[in-house]
Amino acid sequence: MKRKVTIVGGAGNVGATVARAIAEKELADVVLIDIADQKASGVALDMYETCPILGSDTRIIGGNDWSAATGSDIVVITSGKPRKPGMSRDDLVRDNFEIMKSIAPKVVEHCPKSIMIPVANPLDAMAQALYRLTTFPRERVIGMAGVLDSARMSTFIAMELNVSVENIHSFVLGGHGDTMVPLARYSTVAGVPITELLPKDRIEAIATRTANGGAEITKLVGTSAWYAPGAAVAEMVEAILLDKKKILPCSVFLQGEYGIRDLFVGVPVKLGARGVEEIFQITLTPEEDAALKKSAAAVKELVDVIGM
Ligand code: LAC
Repeated sequence: MKRKVTIVGGAGNVGATVARAIAEKELADVVLIDIADQKASGVALDMYETCPILGSDTRIIGGNDWSAATGSDIVVITSGKPRKPGMSRDDLVRDNFEIMKSIAPKVVEHCPKSIMIPVANPLDAMAQALYRLTTFPRERVIGMAGVLDSARMSTFIAMELNVSVENIHSFVLGGHGDTMVPLARYSTVAGVPITELLPKDRIEAIATRTANGGAEITKLVGTSAWYAPGAAVAEMVEAILLDKKKILPCSVFLQGEYGIRDLFVGVPVKLGARGVEEIFQITLTPEEDAALKKSAAAVKELVDVIGM
């Protein structure tokens, strides 16, 4: 049977980029839901019309009618205000929480068995809001952040060492904010940790650029990034729909793992047909652990603002 992925906020840049990636890989049919009803229908039609060229039988429809989303396997939630230059992701917390409150009941009503992928910022707090509001099991609420942050880090390592991005594996933990934790020890080039390949100051520069990766794009473009965020969501969608058991850093509800409880924070997880199938606990040095706890504390502050 054909699978179905609904993208809420689907007429926006991130949503449309996810849809396009799903169509290219012919992973599922796609429903773009957006309060911009007509735009969603137009974007969907435009994209559908690329499918004969792609040779893809993905069907794409769009609008603001949630009945089209019924029975979706995955619901990606990209709705929300994007950042403007100079804003932090945290500046969006109250406005985007209101938007999550309007979306959660729709997901529960139309897609009660779906796996949700929250994308709106501040990511970890919005994931927590959707988890609490839908009361979905934690296996089925998987925030997108770590895949994006790791992709950014890999890009910067590739630039620095002039090697193929395919040789690079980066690991970024923690909240999707300024306190994220790029883990140099576990970031490798052809299996060799970058700590063996680069001096400390270059690694620090890469880590800082990674943590500021979203702001860098926002400053250049005037709004939030979409190509890399969209590609990151698509990788998660593929891992789930193809039951790949792929280990990816995602924001999930921790219940004691890494010494963190009742909070969405980015850690490596195994993604498969059931959503989060395992949370990987890797050993951290005291400094790494302290950085992760600091990042978790920053997420907790935001979660407290919205009382989730
Ligand atoms: C970024 C936004 C999507 O990091 O948070 O680009």
